[in-house]
Amino acid sequence: MPAKLVVTDLTHHYPDEYTGESVHALEKINLEVNEGELVTVVGPSGCGKSTLLNILAGLLPYREGNASMDGVKIQGPSSERGVVFQEQAILPWRSVAKNIGHGLELKGVPRGEREKRVSEFIKLVGLVGFEDKFPHELSGGMKQRCAVARTLCADPAVMLMDEPFAAVDAQTRITLQEELNRIAIATKKTILFITHSVDEAAFLGDRCFVFTARPGRLREIVNIDIPREKRIWADMNNDPRFIEARDKIMRLVREEVLVSNA
Ligand SMILES: Nc1ncnc2c1ncn2[C@@H]1O[C@H](COP(=O)(O)OP(=O)(O)O)[C@@H](O)[C@H]1O
Ligand SMILES: [Mg+2]
Repeated sequence: MPAKLVVTDLTHHYPDEYTGESVHALEKINLEVNEGELVTVVGPSGCGKSTLLNILAGLLPYREGNASMDGVKIQGPSSERGVVFQEQAILPWRSVAKNIGHGLELKGVPRGEREKRVSEFIKLVGLVGFEDKFPHELSGGMKQRCAVARTLCADPAVMLMDEPFAAVDAQTRITLQEELNRIAIATKKTILFITHSVDEAAFLGDRCFVFTARPGRLREIVNIDIPREKRIWADMNNDPRFIEARDKIMRLVREEVLVSNA
């Protein structure tokens, strides 16, 4: 089966209209994400991770190389590709349930079916009892759950996540990672997950793509051969497969951070 997302020779420069000096963000990226796979991407800050994600989301036009989904060139946003960012733009004037159901409402899905789907995803992300709360009444972790549920509820084929758990506290973060693992099992979505946390990359990824310092290139692919059902934080520090993957990713990222600081 051909891969769900295919990126070939993708290079990106950000033009600078004032100085004329452009920023070389990505250099000849080649990668594939298979259907139903969760791939994590790590690399030093500024190496072009968000640039790649924004191109895949269709939010950033590009000229050199190609990015495609199901063999079709990505040229703009699509409801087939749901995006979750670090700072979530959930709508402050809508309740949790109304935020989650917003996409379905825009699509004209009838109220009965909408409510059924919304309550399903509220359960999946652990927000039962908070349906009628507004964003200002939620913790950071709950806002991220709401954002993940809203994206899932629109049923995209692919989820693109850009450091979605980076702004929450450590305990909540662990819970959200375990929740996303359960969601991956339950929905079998294709997920590209960007993070700067090596632990997170090793815990969540079927594979981890390690990027070089800017301009970002794909330095190495690390396979993490742990069944999803076994991915529970309490067990990870005794799992040699996790330790090996994490240490390898850590070593590669450290080398690249040294390059970017040189
Ligand atoms: N809109 C933009 N205009 C100009 N330069 C940008 C823009 N967005 C990002 N950059 C630059 O491109 C490089 C890669 O950025 P980014 O993709 O955000 O990296 P990462 O997400 O890995 O931290 C950085 O040097 C950043 O400053
Ligand atoms: Mg980024």
